[in-house]
Amino acid sequence: MDVAERDRRYVARAEPPDGVQVARSDGCFIFDHHGKKYIDFTAGWCVGNLGWGNDEVRAAIRAFDGPTYVHPDHLYRPWAELAEALAGIVPVKRAKCYRATGGSEAVEIALQVAMAATGRPGFVALEDCYHGNTLGPRSLAGDCDQHPNLLAHCHRVGPPLDERAAGRVERLLRGGTVAAFVMEPVVCNLGVLIPSKEFMTRVRAVCRETGTLFVADEVATGFGRMGKLFASEHFDLDPDVMCLAKAITAGYAPMGATVATEDVAKAAGVDFYSTYGWHPLSVAAALANLRFWGQHKVRILANVADQEENFRSRLTGMKFAEPASIRVMGLAIGVEFGDGSDYAAKLGDRCREAGLLVSTEEDNLLTMYPPLTIDREVARRGLDLLEGCA
Ligand SMILES: Cc1ncc(COP(=O)(O)O)c(C=O)c1O
Repeated sequence: MDVAERDRRYVARAEPPDGVQVARSDGCFIFDHHGKKYIDFTAGWCVGNLGWGNDEVRAAIRAFDGPTYVHPDHLYRPWAELAEALAGIVPVKRAKCYRATGGSEAVEIALQVAMAATGRPGFVALEDCYHGNTLGPRSLAGDCDQHPNLLAHCHRVGPPLDERAAGRVERLLRGGTVAAFVMEPVVCNLGVLIPSKEFMTRVRAVCRETGTLFVADEVATGFGRMGKLFASEHFDLDPDVMCLAKAITAGYAPMGATVATEDVAKAAGVDFYSTYGWHPLSVAAALANLRFWGQHKVRILANVADQEENFRSRLTGMKFAEPASIRVMGLAIGVEFGDGSDYAAKLGDRCREAGLLVSTEEDNLLTMYPPLTIDREVARRGLDLLEGCA
């Protein structure tokens, strides 16, 4: 039985796989089983921010000779070290970390912490948001067709994220039943939607006034993607709770972290038993990733700034067959075509054929999240391929 047939029989999916049978990855490239080389403008969707195969992270995993597993109730030095390291870089004040296995769990924990800390049942999030695949995050999005038994009391506010939208959030929060306002500070899951500074400032202030927690989901935006270590920094935002995952281990191992202020953690007074949360190997990868960031942050972020300009100017000059709205922040890039268009989906297919991987979450929306370490030459080749397919 070939791989595609075996996958079809045994792997549960609603959509067929995209046809790329991955054999190997290196830097900005993915290689399939025939040796065909793809330029990867997705980085696994905000996972491989350092490019695939970072030597330092790989070496840390290879050199690991710690315990096979540590029960969550034990003490383990690298847990304390990682929590301290994260507390030192996030914009959350006096941060404490909950240990999780991935992004959905990190958000799930954030929601439960918020409910426990405030004693309130409600949430406000953005229309069509995505915060993970468990029922809590799905409740934020209100995917009622698929999941009828969602948390009640979830309200949503739609774009544009301007003063008027902030007013709508304010009216909801003034009801006094909302535990948390939850958003990605720059919304990757809505095609790199960038809120106005006024929206962020006002919503933050109203959260404070009404005793509502501000939960920043930085699962996708974290670790340099937006040109700063965290997207919150663009808005001088100090969230009460921040969710991290994806690039936290540079792609080497699963991990999630929910970072809350000491006050919130104390008020919540809840614990989360997660069997594989912060597994020793994942922690070794995350610590190596953070060490790498500590040593190379200035250089990486300078490259992001350079490439941000490069992608913006190339894309705005590109002749797409349909009118496009282009949004770029750091190395998060959204190209949106008109409602009802399937141009992005078709363009994504042509790109893949030509040897370039991009994401098309919606038929009219193309997103790109290249490794932050991408150089000019690879970026040029990828953008040339995109232009050739447009
Ligand atoms: C913003 C955001 N939050 C949470 C998640 C869920 O993360 P995971 O797939 O690790 O559960 C995702 C996944 O894409 C995400 O983009």
